[in-house]
Amino acid sequence: MRAVEIIEKKRDGDELSPEEIRFFVEGFTRGEIPDYQAAAFLMAVYFRGMTPRETADLTLAMAYSGRVLDLHDIAPVVVDKHSTGGVGDKVSLVVVPLVAAAGLPVGKMSGRGLSFTGGTIDKLESIRGFRVELTVEEFREQLRRVGAVLCGQSADLAPADGKFYALRDVTGTVPSIPLIAASIMSKKIAAGADAIVLDVKVGNGAFMKTLEDARALAQRMVDIGSALGRRVVAVISDMNQPLGEAVGNALEVKEAIATLRSDGPRDFREHCLTIAAYMLYLGGRAGSVAEGRRLAEETLSSGAAWEKFRALVAAQGGEVEQIEEPERLPRARLIREIPAPADGYIVEMRAYEVGMAAVALGAGRTKKGEPIDPAVGILVHRKVGDPVRRGEPLFTVHANAEERLAEAQAWLSRAVRIQEAPVPPLPHVYETIP
Ligand code: URA
Repeated sequence: MRAVEIIEKKRDGDELSPEEIRFFVEGFTRGEIPDYQAAAFLMAVYFRGMTPRETADLTLAMAYSGRVLDLHDIAPVVVDKHSTGGVGDKVSLVVVPLVAAAGLPVGKMSGRGLSFTGGTIDKLESIRGFRVELTVEEFREQLRRVGAVLCGQSADLAPADGKFYALRDVTGTVPSIPLIAASIMSKKIAAGADAIVLDVKVGNGAFMKTLEDARALAQRMVDIGSALGRRVVAVISDMNQPLGEAVGNALEVKEAIATLRSDGPRDFREHCLTIAAYMLYLGGRAGSVAEGRRLAEETLSSGAAWEKFRALVAAQGGEVEQIEEPERLPRARLIREIPAPADGYIVEMRAYEVGMAAVALGAGRTKKGEPIDPAVGILVHRKVGDPVRRGEPLFTVHANAEERLAEAQAWLSRAVRIQEAPVPPLPHVYETIP
């Protein structure tokens, strides 16, 4: 078998066999298939797609590119969550310690920023000393002792996803249903999840722009999980505007801390409670989603979720003083407000443009492995449906270079539309599958 033949076969729209998929994933993971062939393979999949059977085989090959954990000696039911990616989506930073504090251990493998969306791993690295690469032994030990882990793909855990992910980010191959489904589900399987809550984002700031595509992605992942005996629920939620106010790594960590300390933006808190409710229900800690929601609210309000976050940061080597006094997290030098150009109501606050503004500031990557600037980002002060008066702040931009600030401002000017007539707020969740 040769890599080029597999690329050509997919390029021509033919179905790959399980052996061909395994050969490609294993060869790439071992470094025998170079990045340029993997990039060509990804582009062929992007254009030609994959059947459900091929997607399931890709998922398994990626999951088994490293170790697959069995955590049942630590937790009778292992529950996990994953988002398909959005702008201002810092949900894992709140939900993982929250669900753990409510009694269900959560060991989550997250990703870095992809394209215009942020990634939990990049956000956590704004905390000085925080280690995102854990060995399997460290992962297990922390899950047993603390009950909560947030780490990235490593040489041990889903290494194929780590390598594909970094290439997809910079080769225009992210928004593909089979590639997203395999990326997410391989990490969940490798981390030993029995029950999985998928937060499938839809809208201009998501990889799935329409409800139809979001449903197709959700269904593909639910089917893969169910075929492997996992309990899976997909929550299809809005990503036409950023979630919460903060977009950018350290700014998002600050917002997550505020939320864990019972403050934080309403839409973001609400979304965290929804996802946590499903996790507590699927994990058997609550008898219904409504009971899960009540338990999640109690755990957040009592301060137990915040305490668990502190313990998680300490366990992974992060400086706890920095999260206790979040003003010590990285700060940008240039802070500029952008005022509303007119009176009226916000009709659009486009997450895609806000995400691109954050990338322009340096919060995301344009080349593989590029360093990011943890301090930069944007605070979004108005949401769809909100009234606004001319001159009131719409955004606060945190930048470290004037020319980047100017580029971000250009993106932000295209993010907003204001009209005289009122409009209703956007829905929070569209539907759940199954
Ligand atoms: N999150 C992932 O882990 N992978 C994707 O492909 C998209 C979002």
